Amino acid sequence: MSAALFAGLVASAHANPAENNAAMLQLATDKGCMACHSIDPKPKRADGLPPIAPSWREVALKYRDDPVAYRKLTDTVITGADPKARHWAGRVGAATMPPNAATISADEARMLVNWLLVLVP
Ligand code: HEC
Repeated sequence: MSAALFAGLVASAHANPAENNAAMLQLATDKGCMACHSIDPKPKRADGLPPIAPSWREVALKYRDDPVAYRKLTDTVITGADPKARHWAGRVGAATMPPNAATISADEARMLVNWLLVLVP
């Protein structure tokens, strides 16, 4: 599905929550986010290591009381997480999030962040 179609779906007053979820998950998959992230928390990997990245429900819980989280997280998605100031140190693997600017636009990053921030269980 093209980005323009997504934007249309999301902006459309007719997109119901299930359609919006499906469109956002497709966007996240197309943009490679789901290679590292999951929607629901994951147990340790088979080799005993922690998950690669925080699940988005955990991210939503962590930032639920932070009214400007959407801005900070959109920047983090674009520029990558700061390896010297990890927010998930010890809870996920040692490798941090690389910049996603090559694959995602600022608008797409904002849409994904706004979506994942309300995925609280
Ligand atoms: C190569 C693996 C990888 C990919 C691909 C990836 N991430 Fe991440 N992401 C991580 C890791 C690891 C962290 C934890 C960083 C930390 O400890 O601060 C993270 C953290 C986050 C956070 C929370 C940041 C914080 O400061 O708490 C958000 C939001 C996020 N990613 C969204 C995305 C989105 C949206 C995409 C797709 C465009 C994406 N990620 C792609 C590995 C990845």
